[in-house]
Amino acid sequence: MATKSDIDYSYSTMDKIWRLSIGEMADFTGAKYDGDFSLSLEEAQKRKHQFISEHLNITGGSRVLDMGCGWGPFLNYLRSIGAKGLGLTLSQGQFEACKKNGLDVRIKDCRTLKTEDFGTFDAVASVGAFEHFCSIEEYKEGRQDEIYQQLFKTISDLLPKGGRCFIQTMVFGEGMIDLDKIDIKADKNSNEYLMALIVNEFPGSWLPYGQEHIIRSAQPYFKFVCGHSGKDDYIETIKVWRKRLKQFSWEKYAAYLSLAPRLIYDSKMRNRLENLKIAPIRVAFERGIWDHFRLVFEKV
Ligand SMILES: C[S@@+](CC[C@H](N)C(=O)[O-])C[C@H]1O[C@@H](n2cnc3c(N)ncnc32)[C@H](O)[C@@H]1O
Repeated sequence: MATKSDIDYSYSTMDKIWRLSIGEMADFTGAKYDGDFSLSLEEAQKRKHQFISEHLNITGGSRVLDMGCGWGPFLNYLRSIGAKGLGLTLSQGQFEACKKNGLDVRIKDCRTLKTEDFGTFDAVASVGAFEHFCSIEEYKEGRQDEIYQQLFKTISDLLPKGGRCFIQTMVFGEGMIDLDKIDIKADKNSNEYLMALIVNEFPGSWLPYGQEHIIRSAQPYFKFVCGHSGKDDYIETIKVWRKRLKQFSWEKYAAYLSLAPRLIYDSKMRNRLENLKIAPIRVAFERGIWDHFRLVFEKV
């Protein structure tokens, strides 16, 4: 699993820059354009929130757990429809931003959640956090399946029979390369280099192999209700993010400048600059190394 320090490295370092670019309680995951790229990013994100709510049978008064809540976009949506959301995150920056915006959030590893912690829920959503639940080390130890199965057991314990869970996550696609080929010194156009940039940006995270991997892991506890890719929507989301990241504001550019000293002594940070230039996740989607799914499950 990505540890709190891994997650802080990935998310808290640029937390302020992102919030100033895409919004205080913005979604940091692929939106749901359904291929209609005339929608604004915000409209497409709202469509995603509505889709999750409808498919999880959430109504006013429902108690919902958001595993990996980010800056609280889905919690904020739940609040707007009168449902009660509890968010869990490992990022200090996200936790503080959520608190400031009056959202109910805790710093807690959602993989180890027990009913004794916060009780049970009517529905569970996890949008863009599944990517972080298995680390490279755990993958190498052959523990990936066990980790995912344990996660679904945890979710199942929190739900009543018939309760639903939504997982949105990136997965490895057909074109994924072997772990030992990943190399930051490889040719800059190669998949080996591309994956090295991504691993550098997201330490402690290794993806599931296709949607089947997730569906299989959920099986003892959940029946699969429906699922679809959102890869093209994610590519569009990243394009919009990149435009917004470049938009000028004094406060944002001051935040960029504050990172400059780290560039001198931290080679990992210098590699992260490359990510800003080429958006490796978008390229990984385009090359079929990565894919993306939105999946709905129901407890049996
Ligand atoms: C890409 S962000 C997505 C945030 C949000 N769901 C959204 O759609 O904007 C990934 C989130 O997963 C959280 N996360 C990753 N691993 C976690 C874990 N084991 N326990 C709790 N949160 C975790 C991170 O802290 C972060 O908030």
